[in-house]
Amino acid sequence: MRSAELARHFEHLFGSPPRIFRAPGRVNLLGEHTDYNEGFVMPCAIGFSTCVAISPRRDRKLVIRSEEFSEQFEFDLDELPSRGKGVWCDYVVGTAVMLQEIGHPSPGASLLVGSEVPIGAGLSSSAALEVASALALMSVNGAHLPLPEVAKLCQRAENLFVGARVGIMDQFVSCLGKAGHALLLDCRSLEFKLLPIPDNLRLVICNTMVKHEHASGTYNRRREECDEGVRILTQWYPNIRALRDISIEQLVQHVAGIPQTIYKRCLHVVSENQRVLDGANYMTDGDVSRFGCLMRESHRSLRDLFEVSCRELDVMAEIAESLAGYCGGRMTGGGFGGCTVNLVKAADAQKFAEEIAERYQSAIGIKPDVYVCSAANGAAAV
Ligand code: GLA
Repeated sequence: MRSAELARHFEHLFGSPPRIFRAPGRVNLLGEHTDYNEGFVMPCAIGFSTCVAISPRRDRKLVIRSEEFSEQFEFDLDELPSRGKGVWCDYVVGTAVMLQEIGHPSPGASLLVGSEVPIGAGLSSSAALEVASALALMSVNGAHLPLPEVAKLCQRAENLFVGARVGIMDQFVSCLGKAGHALLLDCRSLEFKLLPIPDNLRLVICNTMVKHEHASGTYNRRREECDEGVRILTQWYPNIRALRDISIEQLVQHVAGIPQTIYKRCLHVVSENQRVLDGANYMTDGDVSRFGCLMRESHRSLRDLFEVSCRELDVMAEIAESLAGYCGGRMTGGGFGGCTVNLVKAADAQKFAEEIAERYQSAIGIKPDVYVCSAANGAAAV
């Protein structure tokens, strides 16, 4: 992100030099739809970031602008709304409201957002905006929260203010990701471990360029189906709190007593959790080929059991399998469009990117964006 340019534009708009905070988007290697089931995930931060420039104002206003959209939003700090209005600045205001709720109200401030995280591509542009905004606002209100607390605050902003019932994965890795590493996170305890990704691998992220409309409604329905699974399973396992607490062996014993759809959702989550734990061992041992197999299994499970894939994602995942340098890949993020992520040998990555773009375009008729990335650092002051 060109922070010097953002600073210049900020000064031009608001007449004072800003401080700038940056937070990255993410891609998830393994562990999809497990975070809100208190399970395990393994995302990485990526090199696309959102920057928020900020400086205090003398009045009691929060003035918010973006490089991407022309509208300017102004809020009276003494009358901040309690719910978002379905506009992009909800992510910024939501973090201000959550900071205020925990006793760190913002003074008057001007903010300018600049983002290079593709919007609506499933690379967590919203988490990046929340985290960069939270750090920016904390720099003017004097709050010192540890990064895991910042992640939780941003998740609350999205759950309570924006109204999307997302888990903790995106905000957490945007805060705590590390260059060259995947982050293994226990979404119940928030304990995490950084796992080095071998240097000779690249993450090739392939954007299908589609986002199906029912994505957010179905996300919430999947959460309810998982909750329903827990309710049913408590008749046999009264002490469980989430699908995280069930093993595959425990689940399969009750296949006859669980409605088929709910069973499929549970089986995905329970086996996906196990894949993350196994994958962490393979990553630690440098066993890329076994790790890659788990990514492929994860895709199949998301397609057939959790049913959150779509034709474009399946085609993109399938084309990848035939290309040189491919070690494994799958859809990444919530589903119904967005991106696939592939682990590809560094020497083949460029060629892989060109070929997958060409083949996807001839199969689907849409030119995809393809990004060759490595895991990047989490949020920081610029
Ligand atoms: C979205 C949510 C995350 C997570 C994924 C699915 O990205 O924001 O919390 O639930 O979907 O793994």
